[in-house]
Amino acid sequence: MPPRSDPRPVASRAPAPAPIRLFVCMGRDCRAERGGTPLIEAVRHSLAEAGAAAAHLSALSCPCLDRCEDGPLILAYGGEAAALTRPPTGPQAPQPLAIFTHVRRDQLPALITRLLSA
Ligand code: FES
Repeated sequence: MPPRSDPRPVASRAPAPAPIRLFVCMGRDCRAERGGTPLIEAVRHSLAEAGAAAAHLSALSCPCLDRCEDGPLILAYGGEAAALTRPPTGPQAPQPLAIFTHVRRDQLPALITRLLSA
């Protein structure tokens, strides 16, 4: 008779996901006439609803990103930029992981799902 396998669950050894920071533009054009809750609050609410799976995602508001025609605008950064309180700028600035343009509140759950699967 072959030996029985150990029925105890094996603890996951997967590394914790790397932090990702969302910078939500709160410049005048991006927040103009969008109604309801400010986008940054809607993003934070969606992150909270995503629960522990999105614990490595955080969101901060930021001033105009000079892409007003694409707003409302959200940039997602990983790596060292995920620890910044403002989006990186300048010629040495890293590229964002993702740029979300013309963001609507009803798109936020899908946006977060996309980041979680990246
Ligand atoms: S106001 Fe958001 S990019 Fe300018």
